[in-house]
This record gives sequence, C-alpha cells and structure tokens, in this order.
Amino acid sequence: MSAVSPTIGAEVDIAQLTKVYHTRESEDVLALDAIDLKIERGSFVAVVGPSGCGKSTLLSLLAGLTPISDGQITIDSERVIKPHSKIGVVFQSDLLLYWRTVVENILLPIEIKGLDVKKYTAKAEELLNQVGLAGFGKKYPSELSGGMRQRVAICRALIQEPGLLLMDEPFGALDALTREQMIMDLQTMWARLGNTVLFITHGIDEAVFLADRVIVMSPRPGRIDLDLKIDMPRPRQWSRVHEDPTFHGYVRQIREIFEAKGILVAH
Ligand SMILES: Nc1ncnc2c1ncn2[C@@H]1O[C@H](COP(=O)(O)OP(=O)(O)O)[C@@H](O)[C@H]1O
Ligand SMILES: [Mg+2]
Repeated sequence: MSAVSPTIGAEVDIAQLTKVYHTRESEDVLALDAIDLKIERGSFVAVVGPSGCGKSTLLSLLAGLTPISDGQITIDSERVIKPHSKIGVVFQSDLLLYWRTVVENILLPIEIKGLDVKKYTAKAEELLNQVGLAGFGKKYPSELSGGMRQRVAICRALIQEPGLLLMDEPFGALDALTREQMIMDLQTMWARLGNTVLFITHGIDEAVFLADRVIVMSPRPGRIDLDLKIDMPRPRQWSRVHEDPTFHGYVRQIREIFEAKGILVAH
C-alpha cells in the first residue's frame, strides 16, 4: 500500500490583489495591480509572463511569505496572512542543504515544525520512489544531477501533502532533455496526487503542455491579459503534442499577445 495518500487539492481565490514594494532608494514599485483569479480544486494552472511582471511576487504572496498591499487571498476559504502547511513551494534553485542527506532534506519542513520525523520517513521514501529516486535517500545533494536534485526539492514540497503546490520556474535551470523528462514526470505525479498546482514559467510550450489553464500576465504592473483554457486530452505526450495543431494554436495565441507588446519569446 502506498504511504502517500491522495491529496485533495485546495481551492484558491485571489481578489483585487495588489502589491506595492516600497523601497528607500527609489520610487515605489507597483508589482501587481488588482489581480482577480479563482483556481479550482485540483486544477493545474500555469502563469506565463515576461521577466519582472510580478510572477514571483504572486507566488510569494500566495505562500504567505510577503505581505499583501491590498486585496486578499483565500485558500480553502482561509485568508492567507502567514506561511501555511497547506502550501508546498518549489523554486528554480533546489535550495537543498549540502550537509544533509536526501531524506534529511525532504524531512526538513517536518523537523522545523517539530513533528515526529520517524512518522514521515516512510513517506519520504515513498515520494522518492514516485519521482524515480528509490534508493537515493542516503545520498548527498552533491552526488546527484541537477534534475535529480530538483526532484528531491519537489519531494520536500510534497512531504506535508500540501493542497496547493507552488512552482516558480522549477525547470528553468535544467538542460533541455532533463526538462522534458521532468515535465512529463510532473504530469504523472500531479495526476496521482490530485493537488492544485500553480506553475510559473516563461516557457510557453511547457505551460500549454502541463496546464488546464494558462494565465498570461502583462509587463509591469502585472495584470492578467489572457485566461486561456487548454482543452487537450490527458495524459499528454511531449513528443506528440508538438505535432498537434491544437497545441500550436494555443502557443500561437499566447505568443501573439507577447509579440503585440514587443516582448521577445524564447520558445
Ligand atoms: N523585494 C523587492 N523590493 C522592491 N522591488 C521588488 C522586490 N521584489 C520584486 N520587486 C520588483 O517587482 C517587480 C516584479 O518582480 P518579480 O515578481 O520578481 O517578477 P517576475 O518573477 O515576473 O520576474 C519587478 O520590477 C521587481 O524589480
Ligand atoms: Mg520570478
């Protein structure tokens, strides 16, 4: 029997969310301007937008790591005012501690919370198994490739069975082949776990491939330019979608928005 029970995805409601950074050196920065966004339980939502449009800010506000200037966020009807165990976060850099083994890294949030580490060890192993790293628990981060380390970071984010998984350009630092594999594996993992995912990226192709909905953000101040429903059957195959005119249609629609604003698009 699996030690990892299926998670019920959280429901997210973002209303009139505004963020202003006050800096001593320069003028105030309006990073997000009255964003409204409702995310359904268990859905996979990707956010794409140019650098500096407020994607990481949005994630940080959702995670309760940065104070909101105006508006509000609720996760399962609870207002976000501080970091919450319902949320798991994965960043572009894996942020693993090099002096701790893989399992010890995954169990870090449990230890910080003062929960019983022993109780979660089997679950850590099971998560490693799910991401294809069975038997790697006693290795150190330096013994793993970039892709493997990012898999460990995903396990660490999932250890507390978060209803909402936030991912900020998680595959941005990986080589192309590893990235493809990670994209496919994330789809499989999400299908199994059922949690809600907010996936931030500047890769239009990975956004369309993975998501139920792609939110396209405008350059600063961040607003929502397009909320695009991706209607393609699952599981999706990375090699096949590239021959699919529906896939290309979605990608084109997003590119056109960026191009109209003079933003260069990499993919
Ligand atoms: N702590 C901060 N203090 C001041 N300005 C910030 C801070 N964090 C981000 N910003 C500014 O807010 C804007 C949005 O940043 P960010 O959310 O990191 O964008 P993205 O992730 O889309 O690249 C940028 O102009 C950035 O310079
Ligand atoms: Mg960012």
